[in-house]
Amino acid sequence: MSDDARVVHLTEVGPRDGLQNEQVIVPLATKIQFVEMLAASGLRSIEVTSFVSPKWVPQLADAEELLRAIKRETGVCYSALVPNEKGLERALAVGVDAIAIFTAASESFAKKNINASIAESVARFLPVVRDAKAAGIRVRGYVSCVIACPFDGKVEPSAVRDVTRMLLDLGVDEIDLGDTIGVAVPADIARLYAGLADTLTPSESVLHLHDTSGTAMACAARALELGVRKFDGSVGGLGGCPYAPGASGNAATEELVAVAQQCGYSTGVSLARLCDAGRFVAAALGRSLPSRMLAAESCQRADGTSATL
Ligand code: HMG
Ligand code: MG
Repeated sequence: MSDDARVVHLTEVGPRDGLQNEQVIVPLATKIQFVEMLAASGLRSIEVTSFVSPKWVPQLADAEELLRAIKRETGVCYSALVPNEKGLERALAVGVDAIAIFTAASESFAKKNINASIAESVARFLPVVRDAKAAGIRVRGYVSCVIACPFDGKVEPSAVRDVTRMLLDLGVDEIDLGDTIGVAVPADIARLYAGLADTLTPSESVLHLHDTSGTAMACAARALELGVRKFDGSVGGLGGCPYAPGASGNAATEELVAVAQQCGYSTGVSLARLCDAGRFVAAALGRSLPSRMLAAESCQRADGTSATL
């Protein structure tokens, strides 16, 4: 097995998927420090915010200010969600390194989340992808509800495959598969990739797990066995989608780091520094976060002292 095959690539989505779902609007200064602490932990890919309508997601209305203010570390990709051409214009104006467009394998979720059918959303993304590529930035294409939809129930892998093909035809650089409501069990992950076999291999994909049912780490371990090497996580298990009722936080990044390490993969992330970032954001929000690992005594502070929340 090549060295590269022993590396797991993580994208931290806490500042975006995490903070979009908080009741309170987190102050800009806190967001800046949070993103900088995440980069200091060794994470090389951070989804910082969204250039969506501030009427839809007021928590992220400070997207421009945030991207302008953060000190950027060399080698870190600072990306953002973009729903349309207006979002792309805003993102390019503040120099994002990459964008993510997003649709779903379920019509009902697409309608609730982006006020468009799947086909309409893909048509909307055509100029976005074209212009992003012309500007020389990478494009991720999210497919939400790859296992189940909060409105329509179970989603078949064939529906995921159809949307994946549409996004690949647009020219996206990578496909990110979202278990938006966090209900997958390991067998679902195997079934999903089996259904995608002629369209997307596990190693090409990114897996975006939520942990509503507490099964995200079991799914991540199964995905590793299947060949997935790119995952999204949110420190502390922050997160959820405001347009997916009942969905809770993302797979906790620190738990993904630990699972990857225990399975013999390196991530380049300092667990101690990552947990410091998690404690920082938990303190700023004034509550403990779902991740059991973050709360555990065994999670050491970056300075070597142990700490609890
Ligand atoms: P719409 O209301 O159909 O669009 O929303 P519109 O074109 O009619 O615009 C309505 C208003 O928003 C207008 O303002 C526009 O100018 C403005 P008004 O004239 O009323 O004053 N507007 C914008 N403003 C700033 N930036 C923009 C922008 N676009 C329009 N880019 C739209 C359609 C797509 C905009 C809306 O539905 C939206 O913003 N949705 C985003 C919802 C969202 O962010 N959901 C959470 C992220 S997805 C997720 O969490 C899943 C994921 O994590 C993966 C997984 O877990 O599966 C990625
Ligand atoms: Mg999500």
